[in-house]
Amino acid sequence: MDIVVFGAGSLGSLVGGLCAREHRVTLVGRDPHVAAVRESGLAVEGTVEFTAHPDARTTVPDRADLALVTVKSFDTPEAGRTLADCKPSITCSLQNGLGNEDTLDTHLDPVLAGTCTYGARLLEPGRVACMGLGEVALGAPDGGHLAAAERAAAALRAAGIETSVTREMPERLWRKLAVNAGINPTTALAGVSNGVLADGPLYEIASEAARETARVAREQDVDLAEREAVAALDSVIAATADNTSSMAEDIQNGRRTEIDAINGAVVERAESSVPVNRTLAALVRAREHAG
Ligand code: PAF
Repeated sequence: MDIVVFGAGSLGSLVGGLCAREHRVTLVGRDPHVAAVRESGLAVEGTVEFTAHPDARTTVPDRADLALVTVKSFDTPEAGRTLADCKPSITCSLQNGLGNEDTLDTHLDPVLAGTCTYGARLLEPGRVACMGLGEVALGAPDGGHLAAAERAAAALRAAGIETSVTREMPERLWRKLAVNAGINPTTALAGVSNGVLADGPLYEIASEAARETARVAREQDVDLAEREAVAALDSVIAATADNTSSMAEDIQNGRRTEIDAINGAVVERAESSVPVNRTLAALVRAREHAG
């Protein structure tokens, strides 16, 4: 199968590298990373160790059977427009935040929603660390069945990635949103690793952000209990204790964050009051603007 991974950052490179053990893969990203992969291959280190040799470039190839989208949520409009040129038979978002599938759907069909629990970190151009084995869940963004999800899942399984197909993607996306709404802004603002949230005042903030997210999910007719959102938060904090969240890395490196698609998306959709998400979103935006 021809797979294009649009967004060769840490997660995209890891997933692309795993897929390249079985499929023809093109990683689309930025130099100097893609130049290093083209020249010497992609070294995957950590929980799994191998060198993969995907094609790596800054532009999309002519065609693709499956496109995996791993760019930051604010780059999703560009991903949709650019990927339309290679007419992928199936497109699947593996991104953080809400709304990515609708944005991709403007240009591509069918579009699947996916969640991925692999931990990854880009060490330097051409080298990515696998911080722990994970799994992928795929499905129709609005729930229900899509045959394309079975085909995409079969391709990922063939590459050794544990993948399930679910009819409950809305619940999963909101559960993941609750986790990100709790972990990402608190770790970014405090400048700490995920594990620091486990006890103390930051946990109160993170868990309240997750509870508010569950309440907004239910306002949108998505069945997510507050205790379920907090349980998901607890297990991700424990499983990624030593990791720096993507938003904490973005703030540390003076980059734009995904705040709009995470806490901003909760605030935007809320019918009730969500003071913790509103405060976290305002504080992270202020940090971004301060540079
Ligand atoms: O954005 C992130 O960093 C990750 O989604 C997560 C799960 C919070 C782990 O750091």
